Amino acid sequence: MSEDLKDKHGTTGHSWDGIEELNTPLPRWWLWTFYACIVWGVIYTILYPAWPLVNQATAGILGYSTRGEVAAEIEAVNESNAEINAQLASVELTAIPENPELNGYAVSAGAAVFKTWCAQCHGSGAAGAKGYPNLLDDSWLWGGDIEAIHHTISNGVRNEEGEDPRWSQMPAFGRDELLEEGDIEAVVNYVMSLSGDPVDASLVETGATVYADNCAACHMEDGTGDRDQGAPNLTDAIWLYGGDYATLKETVTNSRFGVMPAWQTRLSEAQIRAVTAYVHQLGGGE
Ligand code: HEC
Ligand code: HEC
Repeated sequence: MSEDLKDKHGTTGHSWDGIEELNTPLPRWWLWTFYACIVWGVIYTILYPAWPLVNQATAGILGYSTRGEVAAEIEAVNESNAEINAQLASVELTAIPENPELNGYAVSAGAAVFKTWCAQCHGSGAAGAKGYPNLLDDSWLWGGDIEAIHHTISNGVRNEEGEDPRWSQMPAFGRDELLEEGDIEAVVNYVMSLSGDPVDASLVETGATVYADNCAACHMEDGTGDRDQGAPNLTDAIWLYGGDYATLKETVTNSRFGVMPAWQTRLSEAQIRAVTAYVHQLGGGE
């Protein structure tokens, strides 16, 4: 042990087997840093949320919160988009695709709306699923021009809450005993023959008569469907519920009742128009 240091600082008085412990003080820079940390810590816990309590932490006198910060950021984005949203909500619908700046904004804002509100039914890429129409193709139940799409999205389909929902109802021909099972099997074979091969070609002729009497009013004589009633085209081999024998028989026996909520009660007009523009440009827009 250095005698110089021992003279300068003395010892703690501890000694083991003749080895003594120097009483060297903490370096000054370290000590001041330590005090500064304590002061900083006290000020911080006064200003910001810090000490955990039972339900939440102490709030801090600045009132800062990360949620508040996100809300302020959202508010700022909304404010900076207020003008273009007002324009989007007020122009003629058909003018949107013709205005590149407005359309570009609408399509990207609409893509975000779609991911949040529509993807769970129509799929994140809008390709649909059984009972939920594919929005990428040009086979439309209710119409594919921008005004028809806007109406469908605003009001929804077969719901109670829309102002003017799309509405129609296919009869349940088997359940409600409108047709004998044999007639149903025949008409299913006829429907299959419209876009491909029936499972029993000998039933097609009978099926055509059943079809003309019971189905043509909605699906049209040639089977191409009717958008006023949301009656699908049965000739294009694009199926909402499925085109195999068993699924078709199920559809005709028990009918279908696809429901989409109305969005006018949940989204702003600018959001609805944005998602309309997005859907319209996906590939099937007319
Ligand atoms: C709860 C499920 C559900 C959600 C969520 C939903 N849809 Fe739908 N949507 C449907 C169903 C079911 C139909 C088909 C109704 C029918 O059988 O006619 C449909 C039909 C449509 C149609 C008509 C397609 C055509 O061929 O005419 C459009 C357009 C559409 N949806 C867009 C949207 C948009 C945009 C959103 C998000 C704002 C959305 N949907 C959210 C279930 C949903
Ligand atoms: C009152 C109008 C109406 C009549 C009559 C009617 N349909 Fe329909 N049909 C519809 C509607 C509307 C849908 C769509 C239902 C939905 O999306 O929920 C539909 C759906 C279907 C589908 C499903 C298509 C797909 O893409 O999956 C088939 C198949 C079908 N109908 C066959 C028939 C046959 C066969 C008859 C006669 C025996 C018939 N329909 C009579 C209105 C009608």
